[in-house]
Amino acid sequence: MNNVHEFFVLNNEVKIPKLAYGTYKAADGETYINIQTAIESGYRCFDTASFYGTERSLAKAIGQSKVQREDIFIASKVWKTEMGYEETKAAFTRTLENLGTDYLDLYLMHWPLPSPDFKEWKQLDLDTWRAMEELYHAGKIRALGLSNFLPHHIDNILENCQVPPMVNQIEFHPGHTQESVRRYCEEHNILVQAWSPLGRGRVLKDSLIAGLAEKYRVSAAQICLRFALQKGVMPLVKASSMERMKENQDVFSFALTKEELYQIDTMPPLGWSGEHPDRERQYV
Ligand SMILES: NC(=O)c1ccc[n+]([C@@H]2O[C@H](COP(=O)([O-])OP(=O)(O)OC[C@H]3O[C@@H](n4cnc5c(N)ncnc54)[C@H](OP(=O)(O)O)[C@@H]3O)[C@@H](O)[C@H]2O)c1
Repeated sequence: MNNVHEFFVLNNEVKIPKLAYGTYKAADGETYINIQTAIESGYRCFDTASFYGTERSLAKAIGQSKVQREDIFIASKVWKTEMGYEETKAAFTRTLENLGTDYLDLYLMHWPLPSPDFKEWKQLDLDTWRAMEELYHAGKIRALGLSNFLPHHIDNILENCQVPPMVNQIEFHPGHTQESVRRYCEEHNILVQAWSPLGRGRVLKDSLIAGLAEKYRVSAAQICLRFALQKGVMPLVKASSMERMKENQDVFSFALTKEELYQIDTMPPLGWSGEHPDRERQYV
């Protein structure tokens, strides 16, 4: 694992860069300078979603760059209110229009349930997945995935699908690694992507993380990203300056020891967003 140009290989043999730039709150209406800077800094993989409102900004930034569409890996997601067979097809069409492209590299179901009290989620997930599978078979999507799915949600898909998911995107950072989900995905050959890999900054001052940063002469953010990569997890990280973007990509010249990985794995809970698919949002 030596440099930012390396790839993970998904279970359908599609290659995905080891690091992505997350676009949530990275652009606002007409401004997309952060995404332009991210392309300039070297990112070639971008995570967006219909919910973020950043699809058009991403399209503009790519359009104004010298990088070809086929050299950029674009992931987007179908939102809670867009679930269902017909709704997903319509949502996908809107997403392609927003992104100014005729295919997606990765399309994810954003959450397994529209709300925690929604009883018919199994059928809704399968209807949504069937639409995604058809778009995949039609060559409109190169890889399919899930987001915020726990093992019991994924079982429902695996027991009923034609195309098994290639990716599951979950909150993952020191202090909240969802190890049972990560392990389940590893056993089922599903790549885990880490959202909020820095815990949105909430874990950077932790003494273990800060101590490791000092030992390796890197930043606390770099320790978090390196930790994810060594766990076989692909980080999606957002930053707002060229300096931070470059720093966040410079995570291939040092390696945490097995002991340090265990220490991070077992540190006390920290920095959880408060989001859980089966429960009401907690404000922690
Ligand atoms: N699937 C889902 O449900 C879901 C949910 C949430 C997020 N996501 C995805 O995950 C991506 C990343 O998550 P996130 O934005 O919530 O959290 P994050 O990447 O963990 O943290 C971003 C925060 O960390 C700061 N930061 C970045 N690099 C830094 C560095 N080197 N040193 C110090 N601080 C640094 C950023 O500040 P500045 O911006 O000021 O530089 C920003 O405040 C999102 O953009 C989105 O694509 C997905």
